[in-house]
Amino acid sequence: MGEEINENILNTGSGPANNTGVEEVSEPADCGVKYYTLEDIRIHNLSNDTWLIIHDKVYDITTFLEEHPGGEEVLLEQAGADATESFEDVGHSTDAREMLEQYYIGELHMDDRQKKKEKVKRIITIK
Ligand code: HEM
Repeated sequence: MGEEINENILNTGSGPANNTGVEEVSEPADCGVKYYTLEDIRIHNLSNDTWLIIHDKVYDITTFLEEHPGGEEVLLEQAGADATESFEDVGHSTDAREMLEQYYIGELHMDDRQKKKEKVKRIITIK
């Protein structure tokens, strides 16, 4: 009788019935991603509605403005636009990069990314 109980206890851990965590049902990786055009983003350039683009990702940093160690002014200067260059120029820490994640709202529209790439190509060609 005692043996039977022990067997049951062992089975709960390795038995096939309980597969908790085996099949992760996390948020979908791609579906549900929002794409914003430069036009969409540009209007969010206010101190109570502030979006930024960094590396083709769109962030709503409205609630972060006051917390930014570099001050809110520098962020507002970039509001509604691509802040990749200024963000990288400062040489932000890994911590700063991780902070970005909590403000992520979507991706820059593919069409607007291509425009940027074309510009770069042209500069190279002229040279
Ligand atoms: C939403 C995006 C941003 C986040 C999460 C962020 C976060 C941070 C953090 C955590 C620091 C402290 C130093 C460090 O850990 O690197 C910092 C410093 C700084 N940031 Fe940002 N930052 C952002 C965007 C920007 C942008 C776009 C600019 C420039 C236009 C900027 C300019 C600065 C400056 C000048 C400092 C230095 C402050 C000092 O040491 O006196 N940041 N930022």
